[in-house]
Amino acid sequence: MAKDLMHAVQYSKYGGGAAALKHVEVPIPTPKKDEVLLKLEAASINPIDWKIQNGMLRPFLPSKFPFIPGGDVAGEVVKVGPGVTNYKAGDKVVAVLASGGGLAEFVVAKESLTVARPPEVSAAEGASLPVAGLAAHQALTQCAGVKLDGSGQQVNILITAASGGVGQYAVQLAKLGNTHITATCGARNMDLVKSLGADEVLDYWTPDGVALKSPSGRKYDVVIHCTTGIPWSTFDSNLSANGKVVDTTPGLGSLMSVALKKLTFSKKQLVPLFMIPKKENLEYLVKLVKEGKLKPIIDSKHPLSKAEDAWAKSIDGHATGKIVVEP
Ligand SMILES: NC(=O)c1ccc[n+]([C@@H]2O[C@H](COP(=O)([O-])OP(=O)(O)OC[C@H]3O[C@@H](n4cnc5c(N)ncnc54)[C@H](OP(=O)(O)O)[C@@H]3O)[C@@H](O)[C@H]2O)c1
Repeated sequence: MAKDLMHAVQYSKYGGGAAALKHVEVPIPTPKKDEVLLKLEAASINPIDWKIQNGMLRPFLPSKFPFIPGGDVAGEVVKVGPGVTNYKAGDKVVAVLASGGGLAEFVVAKESLTVARPPEVSAAEGASLPVAGLAAHQALTQCAGVKLDGSGQQVNILITAASGGVGQYAVQLAKLGNTHITATCGARNMDLVKSLGADEVLDYWTPDGVALKSPSGRKYDVVIHCTTGIPWSTFDSNLSANGKVVDTTPGLGSLMSVALKKLTFSKKQLVPLFMIPKKENLEYLVKLVKEGKLKPIIDSKHPLSKAEDAWAKSIDGHATGKIVVEP
């Protein structure tokens, strides 16, 4: 490969799934004033990546075609823009990319969304953190008001799809707070989810799992809802009087429920989550991994040359933890 070219994965139009991903050689990007150039060590896939391919964020993302997807990366800094003060070549980092570019041998990231990766945190673990970890963190702390230092009154939490990318972090982070955790997942992942910190686990294919009934008869103060297809009525009957559902995948139905709750003055709430990445929160997650208090669960690792397999696996919707791509 020519010296200033790199291997990247891109798509050129909306739709088409994994089959539409093409392997190309493109110029290595140049970091702008406030950016760092990274040699990729690992990236992870999130459902938002293929939802963007399906046009969910049209017309904002992709900003243009062809588009290199991928927002979660870990890598080594090889060059910095003239305004960058906190990083130098050779530094190991984790970054979240606002407008893709992650599925490539080299990646540019904003300094403001890049954090140091200590040696105790592997590249795959680091790349598994940004979107899913930050979503779980924001849902618990900002939306639900759970204090992760263990202070505050005990909160009964339900976490749906606790075996997924977001759910696994939601369980582990919630456990740091003063919480009782009920979690849902498939039968094959019940032991794993318990080991992450859930106090009780429901198989989502059983009648009690469908009904979201707490085995110990608890009502939920907070639900961190990490999947789709559960009607408000099912939550309603399981919520405490001031219970709150934080919906990670707000659709038209949940936004209408929000409006209806306001009209009926119900104290139960449905809060849509729109994750806004913050550097200090990513630093906090990396620190927890370093200290052994948070363990990213990795479903599978795929070479960049087979990124389409990782993409298809995410679309399939049955990953246990995060799907990682490595150069
Ligand atoms: N709002 C935001 O800012 C934001 C940020 C990040 C993510 N999200 C969204 O959050 C959702 C979850 O993301 P993710 O990365 O966690 O997805 P994911 O990793 O693909 O989730 C897959 C997991 O969900 C489980 N699952 C599927 N349906 C379930 C159900 N009805 N009950 C219990 N478990 C179920 C699957 O278990 P089985 O294999 O056993 O079926 C699998 O382990 C996605 O829609 C994503 O787009 C939103």
